[in-house]
Amino acid sequence: MKLASIVGARPQFIKLAPLSKEIRKRHHEILIDTGQHYDEEMASNFYSEFQIPKPDYSLGIGSGTHAEQTGKMLIELEKVLSQEKPDLAIVFGDTNSTLAGALSASKLGIPIAHVEAGLRSFDRSMPEEINRIVTDHLSSLLFCPNELARQNLAAEGVTEGVSVVGDIMLDALNSSLEAAKKHSKILDTLFLQKKEYQFMTCHRASNTDNEQNLRSIISAIGESGEKTVFPVHPRTMKYLESYGMKDNLPKNLIITKPLSHMDTIWLVANSRRVLTDSGGLQKEAYILGVPCITLRENTEWTDTVRVGWNILVGANKEKILRAIREFVPPAEHPDIFGPRGANVRMVSEIDRFLGSA
Ligand code: UD1
Repeated sequence: MKLASIVGARPQFIKLAPLSKEIRKRHHEILIDTGQHYDEEMASNFYSEFQIPKPDYSLGIGSGTHAEQTGKMLIELEKVLSQEKPDLAIVFGDTNSTLAGALSASKLGIPIAHVEAGLRSFDRSMPEEINRIVTDHLSSLLFCPNELARQNLAAEGVTEGVSVVGDIMLDALNSSLEAAKKHSKILDTLFLQKKEYQFMTCHRASNTDNEQNLRSIISAIGESGEKTVFPVHPRTMKYLESYGMKDNLPKNLIITKPLSHMDTIWLVANSRRVLTDSGGLQKEAYILGVPCITLRENTEWTDTVRVGWNILVGANKEKILRAIREFVPPAEHPDIFGPRGANVRMVSEIDRFLGSA
């Protein structure tokens, strides 16, 4: 059978890697890269890091407003999908590439499989929440990472084609961790000792496109005095420059370019705590046993908060500072992300769906 995997943004390359390996054992996979992320550190490096085959189609869409970016993707994806006529289109996560992939496939009558279905932050001001809801409602196969995601779908009346397969990022995390133990030099490169620093990422529209929020986050870090490694997403760098903050950042921030997944995982694993507005990092921090302070008002990964290892502080300076000084997770660290092998379970479901089992 012919399957078309559609990716474009950084976290999608991470999720694609273990699934693609499994798909290619018995299907023909066409890989389409929308080009949403185009900087070397944001995209190309992931192909070599995860040994993902080169894409069959690179659409080179790049940045733009949501409508521009999604619209251009729709036009180009329709051409490729009409020509290739895959039996199934696979989309990942919640970015504009996910939405465009799902919309263009559904208009052509191509069934869709959604990897990481059913996640909800219940915050419709996030572009990602809109992308998730629309994609889920267009998909024939909905791969949920956990039971809560299945319940979210059921509450919206989506029950057919839904399966709880576990978390695909577990597989990527484990291989990056193994590689990091052997090969990562990042602690030496940044002159860091284990557990003497905290690790931060910040790129969500709600934090970067709002000057007050970005200032509040950076000034909380400055006031905490904690050594803080901060790989800066290009979007965030653009705003730091435009707000005139780039040349006056606190001295305890260690700024780097976006890093490989291996180096990121190694920095997280050896940090005292993580501060982030990313979805994936909240999860990775938990699995690596590192407390997480989430720079958002809500999260899709509510289980990490429920078990006490993640705290939501938004962009509130006082809350961020208090969490840095006082937040201590409990001794219990239950397994909330299930067993490995989500990729194998997804391909079994795909086989059943396509009648190729
Ligand atoms: C996107 C996803 C977000 C995900 C993130 C992962 C959407 C709506 N959001 O956000 O859910 O967490 O990817 O990283 O799809 N830019 C560059 N070079 C790049 C990529 C981006 O310079 O390679 C800059 C551009 O100025 C661009 C801005 O970053 O305008 C935003 O990029 P975009 O792809 O629209 O969204 P992200 O913030 O990366």
